[in-house]
Amino acid sequence: MEREILGIDIGGTGIKWAIVDTETGALLSERKKIATPKPATPEAVSKCIQEQIRMMGWKDKPIGLGLPSVVRRGIARTAANIDNSWLDVNVDDFFTQRLECPCKVINDADAAGWAEVAFGKGKEENGVVLLLTLGTGIGSALFCDGKLVPNTELGHAHFKKDIAEKHASNHARKIGKLDWAAWGGRLNELLLYYDRLFSPDLFILGGGVSKKFELYQNYLDIDHLNIAPATLQNDAGIIGAALCAKNAFHP
Ligand code: BGC
Repeated sequence: MEREILGIDIGGTGIKWAIVDTETGALLSERKKIATPKPATPEAVSKCIQEQIRMMGWKDKPIGLGLPSVVRRGIARTAANIDNSWLDVNVDDFFTQRLECPCKVINDADAAGWAEVAFGKGKEENGVVLLLTLGTGIGSALFCDGKLVPNTELGHAHFKKDIAEKHASNHARKIGKLDWAAWGGRLNELLLYYDRLFSPDLFILGGGVSKKFELYQNYLDIDHLNIAPATLQNDAGIIGAALCAKNAFHP
């Protein structure tokens, strides 16, 4: 059925996938995960995915993929937390050939944002919505009245003599052994900074750490900022990637 699309979320540590009902956002198969190969070259990543889709018998059917890279007109333009060999690869063509299925690739945070705006927290919200994924890096997806401004890369904004994601990602929390108060404080400063730049009507916090929102929400300036954890949590990237493919192949 055309509404069933395989969504794949390629991350720095894991590759996750499921079949998505693009009309409802529901997962139609169990969410599966494997470790991202190291080094995560296009060859190695596509080989892992090839094996999985072969096992599930997914052939000649559309696939949407989220990649932690700026993806402009099908071409990977950055490689901050993935192997440099992705740079300048036409990832739409590459995956379409390797996986023998029509493939569409989108930035991973844009995918997560797309899903939240279609089916999750951002559904009821018009105006400016900024979703941030807090993981290995910080991804961003900016929407105005439900329309995405792609590839915003706010995790790479200069902040505190570094870039934002080095200071306030979930990875920065772990390697810096920061407690929730210390990390929540850093995140709050970053949100206030983004607020000065974009004045979002709603911030949505995604990534694995969105599940633990109650542990750090007290350190965020909720009197001034409208902040909510992502409702689709770890499924958002998968669902959004499938939506992107649906839009590309069956608009
Ligand atoms: C990358 C983004 C990505 C984010 C989250 C950043 O380092 O530059 O493209 O969305 O990490 O994975």
